[in-house]
Amino acid sequence: MPRDVSAAAPAATPDAATLATVELALLGIERGDVSVEVEAATAEQAATQGRLIVTDPEGAPVAALHVQQVDGSTVRGGLEAVERDATDDAHARPHAELRRGPDHIATAGAAVVVGHDPIDRPTLDAATADPHRQVLFVVLDGPRAVPGPATADVATCALTLRDELRTGGREAEVVVLPGAQFGDDRDDALAARIAEAYGADLVRPPRRADRAALHAWLDGATDPEPTDWPAPALAAWRRWRPRPAERGVVVFFTGLSGSGKSTVARALVNRLAEAGQRRVTLLDGDVVRRNLSAGLGFSRADRDRNIERIGFVAAEIARHGGMVVCAPIAPFAATRARVRQMAESHGADFLLIHVATPLAECERRDRKGLYARARAGEIPDFTGISSPYEEPDDAELVIDTSTTTVTDARDTVLDLLSARGLLAGRDGA
Ligand code: ADX
Repeated sequence: MPRDVSAAAPAATPDAATLATVELALLGIERGDVSVEVEAATAEQAATQGRLIVTDPEGAPVAALHVQQVDGSTVRGGLEAVERDATDDAHARPHAELRRGPDHIATAGAAVVVGHDPIDRPTLDAATADPHRQVLFVVLDGPRAVPGPATADVATCALTLRDELRTGGREAEVVVLPGAQFGDDRDDALAARIAEAYGADLVRPPRRADRAALHAWLDGATDPEPTDWPAPALAAWRRWRPRPAERGVVVFFTGLSGSGKSTVARALVNRLAEAGQRRVTLLDGDVVRRNLSAGLGFSRADRDRNIERIGFVAAEIARHGGMVVCAPIAPFAATRARVRQMAESHGADFLLIHVATPLAECERRDRKGLYARARAGEIPDFTGISSPYEEPDDAELVIDTSTTTVTDARDTVLDLLSARGLLAGRDGA
């Protein structure tokens, strides 16, 4: 087959963690070749062309990778920067001006703190122990394995601490760098490489900050402020996870068709509207399928797409401190888990309510006549009949509407919300 060497090099957008590594390499922090996972056809094309254009999620080129090796769908090679629009980059992210590589800032011999989270007291004390030493705060911006505050808020915390230090006559700088958090040894290794690139010494605090106390305070169960964080750090943590009355909440009903999900969900939403404590959005399964998910069917892929759309909207509402009640069948555990993770990454509460009314009862009710049609083979992939329903083992609440009234079911959910402080008025009433 003749090689078409005139064809343009193929382009691919890697996952967020890899993209962060690519960007770190361009800043002169990561060294050596980089591996990028692409579609097999793209890998083949890259091998032919000798080049792969690495693009950001918007499709804009970030770097050219000079292919050294292709193994299946993994392309490996050295990177070369491509020209980017400086004005675009200046507005591409919050605090873009703080993305300064080691060549653009003098930090030799500084005490450097690296992380995705607001800095804790033991680390800050260790970093500032020597009054003659410059302090460098490196805030990492990238996908996180352990949820926490938005990068902009962590950077704001670092800037406040920097200004306090400067007011006290100290030298201090803040840098924001791309970088993924894995929640394991790779994070320490990355921090060490960053410190080395800046010619600075990584701060190793004498003890770990007490995260249990932090999370107890964030959850709203305890009042005294945890002592292991300076005030600007606590402010960033609180912005991520507000007090219960202002916190985002996703109440996610799951269960078979005819189980009573929609009925209980609607009763709950109406009661909340009557009480006027919080505004609520209802994303009912059948209703969503008429607008947001119009055109989708009931294959596994389409159901996943449906639930992910619901999850995306729910997580956005929760991110803004809103309350949303969802009521789809959501038969797959992995998909439900992804929605939970989306909500919790924004510091919101996610409550899974399993409406576990037995199939026999749902079928006996058969309000829409769908079970009869499914049994007659007229509806393929019908949940409970010809398509699976994976029972949750992580539900915050299980309700069976064959043994409890709608009012009682509704009140059980209200009690749960109330016990968590999620219904208290803004003045705590
Ligand atoms: S989900 O599986 O993607 O979560 P969703 O809650 O949106 O399902 O839609 C379920 C509703 O669609 C049911 O209440 C029923 O009215 C209708 N429906 C139509 N076909 C099917 C099917 N094959 N399986 C389940 N529900 C179906």
